[in-house]
Amino acid sequence: MTWAVIATWKMAFHGTETAAGILENNGTAADAAVTGVSLVEDEPSFHSVGYGGRPDRTGHVVLDGGFMDGDTLHFGAVAALEGFRSPVNIARSLISGNANNFLVGAGAAAWAESHGFEKRDNLTEEAREIYEREKERLKELTAYDGHDTVCFLTLDHNGTLCAATSTSGLFMKEPGRVGDTPVPGSGFYADSECGAAAATGMGEEILKGALSYAAVFFMKEGYSAMEAAQKAVDELDAKLKKRNGSANAMSLITLAPDGSWGVGTNVDFTFSTADKEHGTQLWSAAKVNGKTVIKAYEKEI
Ligand code: GLY
Repeated sequence: MTWAVIATWKMAFHGTETAAGILENNGTAADAAVTGVSLVEDEPSFHSVGYGGRPDRTGHVVLDGGFMDGDTLHFGAVAALEGFRSPVNIARSLISGNANNFLVGAGAAAWAESHGFEKRDNLTEEAREIYEREKERLKELTAYDGHDTVCFLTLDHNGTLCAATSTSGLFMKEPGRVGDTPVPGSGFYADSECGAAAATGMGEEILKGALSYAAVFFMKEGYSAMEAAQKAVDELDAKLKKRNGSANAMSLITLAPDGSWGVGTNVDFTFSTADKEHGTQLWSAAKVNGKTVIKAYEKEI
């Protein structure tokens, strides 16, 4: 059996190397995915995830995260969670059982505290200064586009696929706003028999198409990971443009049970992949004349 990783944005490159090491040493897909995401959550120079994430309209850094095990289809998710180090680890702790898998706000915080998860104020001095400056500059505060979610999809030697996600959501979002990232089927989905998918971009758009489930469904219907990712994004992008005149940013990664991967996007997008044969690689994707063009990423990380 093979192993493989795909993760969103170049911020996940070092996490992808770490996840690859876990899988190469016979670790589980769950450990690899959650470790990859939590490394990004801990890095203050990444401004859309965890520590250093951008605050909401009231100056609070409020986080969302999700996790899914493709063998059992069990998932865990937290949303609108404040004051804890790693939403993805808390999400993972919620997968057992058939109830109470998705907790929000005060309920999520109470669960995290009672289960010993590490607390952390995720508002860095840099993020606070940016927030104060923008608050002064803007008469009316509106949500900004900063919504780069970290997503990991992993396949282990046992053939298990997992998905894990984490974000601070939109900068200046309305308190209580939740995007796609913690929502199974939209922000992530994993089924070890068909494939896994996870999304980044404007959550409100991704939710309209249940984008991750759409791609996994296409893989179940026989499309390759690459075809499924592009079909899911392109169809939703076209539908939103037809119905509403525009479509906001959406990018999607997919991973098939054989370790092959795919990407669909309607904007410039970076991602990393790893497997035994090719090692860890960083890529860029862009839409050029209606086609998704994927290239090795040539700039410095
Ligand atoms: N995709 C992250 C969000 O919209 O919150």
